[in-house]
Amino acid sequence: MTTAGLEGITAGRSGIATVGKAGAGLTYRGYRIEELAEHSTFEEVAYLLIYNQLPNAQQLSSYKKRLSGLQELPEELRTVLEQIPASAHPMDVLRTGCSVLGTLEPDGQGGRNEAAIADRLIASFGSMLLYWYMFKNRGDRIETQTGEDTISGHFLRLLTQSEPEPLRQRALDVSLILYAEHEFNASTFTARVVTSTLADIYSAVTAAIGALRGPLHGGANEAAMELVSQFESPAVAEKGVLQMLAARRLIMGFGHRVYKNGDPRSGIVKSWASRLAEESGNTDIFDISERIEQVMMREKGMHTNLDFFAATVYHLCGIPTPMFTPVFVISRTSGWAAHVIEQRNDNRLIRPLADYTGPEPRDYVKLEDR
Ligand code: COA
Repeated sequence: MTTAGLEGITAGRSGIATVGKAGAGLTYRGYRIEELAEHSTFEEVAYLLIYNQLPNAQQLSSYKKRLSGLQELPEELRTVLEQIPASAHPMDVLRTGCSVLGTLEPDGQGGRNEAAIADRLIASFGSMLLYWYMFKNRGDRIETQTGEDTISGHFLRLLTQSEPEPLRQRALDVSLILYAEHEFNASTFTARVVTSTLADIYSAVTAAIGALRGPLHGGANEAAMELVSQFESPAVAEKGVLQMLAARRLIMGFGHRVYKNGDPRSGIVKSWASRLAEESGNTDIFDISERIEQVMMREKGMHTNLDFFAATVYHLCGIPTPMFTPVFVISRTSGWAAHVIEQRNDNRLIRPLADYTGPEPRDYVKLEDR
């Protein structure tokens, strides 16, 4: 028996996260997402995922110091980034950057293990993206060692080339916590499949970036912003979404394979979107988004997923729309790494079967007889 899209299939064991589990909801190593989003920072969450425990104050301080020391890019990588066209999608820049770094700082060499490489990638993905962006858009070869000791601060400083604004920084930080891990989603499962062949972690992360790029997965935050920003008012948005539904088109940022009664991350990210909108004095995008949310609930009984209001948060943080999914990459690398480590610790090649639907066995027809 087959199940399209492996829906409802348990494809392995994992001790990292629960997604929509009765009585638990979304947890990372047993900690509820609501509490992590309220009280922790992304660096604590990344440490929790990669090193299997919440850091104490001293561990956190040295972890942040270590991450901030990993922001520099090797000369060879900068040269490659400079060759990527300005028209490239930023996800392709990260996919390429990850792969190139893997040739310069290979897995298993120089004392590098999966955790060390995960830290390096989390600390330097923002550097890669903004180095390429600033070089292509301004002709500047920016200094990527910002010295910021948070991933959100590093990203915003590189983007704005100025002091990160605290409310925006915390909003970005919370979004990184929410995006960090989500069990056997498409990109994480991809990373595990690659890891199961005993390939290196860069191959796993590069493949995972490819899986995350599509609009049915991580690319939905970018697609949601493209949807929302095409409407000039809530009334126009309502009309437009009704037309799209009538044409049986997907509304990006809605629906979920596992959560059929709502995504626990949605309310948290929406409250940050609302807060940023109020503070900016311009609630247009938020109001349009909220109207679309109401229409989708009324017409389809369908809830937003994390990507929908994350798009508003990123827009209000001043992040260009094509960089929304790359921000997701920076965060999810912590979850991918946790899964790579878990897979390696108890590995068996992932190799399922298919129900064959092709022709019956037949005789080969020689080229000259076809
Ligand atoms: N907009 C409109 N209709 C939607 C929808 C959406 N975003 N998501 C699902 N539906 C509809 C489907 O068309 C289908 O309708 P049908 O039964 O009349 O054919 C029904 O809801 C069930 O959806 P299905 O495609 O079986 O769900 P899935 O579990 O395979 O897909 C997603 C889950 C996430 C891929 C899907 O909801 C989607 O494409 N969402 C938009 C992309 C997105 O936001 N992705 C990020 C996920 S975190």
